[in-house]
Amino acid sequence: MDLEIDKAVVKRHSVRQYQNREIEKSLVDRLNSYIDEINRESGLTFELVLNEPKAFTGPLAHYGKFENCFNYIIIKGPSGREEDVGYYGEKIVIFAQQIGLNTCWVALTYSKGKLGLKLKKGEKFYLLISIGYGRHRGLPRKSKPMEKLCTAKGEMPDWFKNGMDFAMRAPTAINQQKFMITLLENGEVSAKSFVAPCHKIDLGIVKYHFELGAKLPIKWK
Ligand SMILES: Cc1cc2nc3c(=O)[nH]c(=O)nc-3n(C[C@H](O)[C@H](O)[C@H](O)COP(=O)(O)O)c2cc1C
Repeated sequence: MDLEIDKAVVKRHSVRQYQNREIEKSLVDRLNSYIDEINRESGLTFELVLNEPKAFTGPLAHYGKFENCFNYIIIKGPSGREEDVGYYGEKIVIFAQQIGLNTCWVALTYSKGKLGLKLKKGEKFYLLISIGYGRHRGLPRKSKPMEKLCTAKGEMPDWFKNGMDFAMRAPTAINQQKFMITLLENGEVSAKSFVAPCHKIDLGIVKYHFELGAKLPIKWK
């Protein structure tokens, strides 16, 4: 049975060491049909690559402590879509966790030259998500305290606190957490990120987590 979405958010940690086994066909089919749905919804191109060991065997992957990483999701699309890359990519990450797979967002620690990328005119390559059966579940890591990541005029309602709890669990590049979420007087919510590597992708990831935690349709300002 699939893990409930809230539990998947709590249990997700980046996993870089995988078991040496292929992802079973039923899960590949489910992943691919979810990816098709996300591609239609987002206008981006997420592409599952299976049993391809080269991208994660070079020095950068070694430095990043990747092991047995043979499967990954390539993310491409029009330029300027960083926030959507994060938002929709994290939907796939959480779905993967629900069906028993582990993941890691990867912007740097792999061999880009080994991807054999074919880009259409006007298409940009963004980054990868590694995926497979983890050798372990990953480890909880430190987060900045909530008060360093959000502000609110007056009392913070529970839905906002719950949104923040999930936002703090969002993966960000090098765990930088360079974002600020603000509850405005009119009930709208704004989210901003500050210049840092991949900060716009991080912001999309954070927004998806916040929405899952708040359990309300958020009017992003
Ligand atoms: C946009 C983005 C890029 C990342 N790039 C890399 C990477 O190149 N190599 C790596 O080992 N981890 C990478 N990570 C994983 C982060 O280091 C990890 O998410 C962060 O330390 C928080 O840990 P957690 O995912 O276990 O919560 C990346 C994460 C994000 C969101």
